[in-house]
Amino acid sequence: MAPNAVITGWGMYAPSRVMTNDELSKMVDTSDEWIQSRTGIRERRIAADDENTTSLSVRAARDALAVAGVDGSAVDLVIVATCSPDYPLPATSVTVATALGATRAAAFDLQAACSGFLYALAAANGFIRSGMYRNVLVIGVEILSRFLNWQDRSTCVLFGDGAGAVLLSASDKPGGLMGWDLFSDGTGCEGIIVRAGGSVQPASPETVAGNLHTIQMAGSEVYKYATRQMGDSAVAALRAAGLGVDDVDQFVFHQANLRIIKSVEKQFDIPEEKVFVNIEKYGNTSAASVPMALVEAIAAGRIKPGDKVLMVAFGAGYTAGAAVMEWTADPARAFLAPGEQTRLGMPRVAEPELAVAG
Ligand code: ACO
Repeated sequence: MAPNAVITGWGMYAPSRVMTNDELSKMVDTSDEWIQSRTGIRERRIAADDENTTSLSVRAARDALAVAGVDGSAVDLVIVATCSPDYPLPATSVTVATALGATRAAAFDLQAACSGFLYALAAANGFIRSGMYRNVLVIGVEILSRFLNWQDRSTCVLFGDGAGAVLLSASDKPGGLMGWDLFSDGTGCEGIIVRAGGSVQPASPETVAGNLHTIQMAGSEVYKYATRQMGDSAVAALRAAGLGVDDVDQFVFHQANLRIIKSVEKQFDIPEEKVFVNIEKYGNTSAASVPMALVEAIAAGRIKPGDKVLMVAFGAGYTAGAAVMEWTADPARAFLAPGEQTRLGMPRVAEPELAVAG
């Protein structure tokens, strides 16, 4: 029998520097009122100069490994989902694996923009269920502040930095990933794009002067597409799992815009208390958004063993991803995380009484 793939560890890291809407309104022609009413964002985190995509990943991943009680040396594969890597090459996942002591792990980056974490989770599930690997570390991480035009009010107010990580492990017990849906549509290539630095427009003095290494977005087209596709992907993943919307205990949507989340909530008549929202604190952290929201939902007591959790994301490409899973891990294992954000105020206890992971 193929093993099940269950989340045994989870962790997150957000840089300490908070940038408020008021601060942004001193940089571009915008206001706290506009940003909050159009997006739901109050503030976002910005990485410090000495932080990079690897360092954010490692902080989130250390927590995930500690929560799972698994040493870095036992990790078989590290997948880093990001569209803001340390370098075009080599892959960020390789330096992350080395920093974690995952010396025998395979490692690769995955680029599916905001849907990247769910693509990576589905890939990890395949590696585990095929019997190829037992412990796969899946990280969603972004430092989008380094890819923004800070003079462009239509994008710079939306994004933020952060990282979320889960350890997906093989288990003989029931639970884990039950259904998923991965979607792509390249006709949306121009919707959200960094035009230069790739094969189409290599870096040059002109591309730098033209701000072509930063994110450009056709906001309202993306908004309309995202609203429809988030719903379609959610339904497809639930159908694959043989579940309906009412069977879901907690929805963890990509935190791109509160109005998109509210629109999906309304479309499916989902009770507000089943939808976790933290966009007000972090903005759109792209591939980090779903795992960061998952970690905060666990810390807030929203997820317990036996719950069905549906995660859905939409991003540049266009891409979309959805995954539904039956949660199995004891939320109290978050006590074991060395980083405070994974515990979110949970006191550190010396010897917590914990159910066995998985
Ligand atoms: N402050 C003040 N005014 C602004 C700002 C700002 N920060 N940004 C835009 N405006 C103005 C526009 O110039 C426009 O003015 P005009 O009517 O005089 O031309 C007006 O506000 C309305 O602009 P819209 O773009 O129509 O505003 P909308 O209500 O659509 O909200 C937003 C814009 C928030 C960007 C929305 O379209 C959105 O959330 N889009 C989806 C983003 C998304 O989901 N991205 C997902 C993936 S990202 C990734 O994969 C990396």
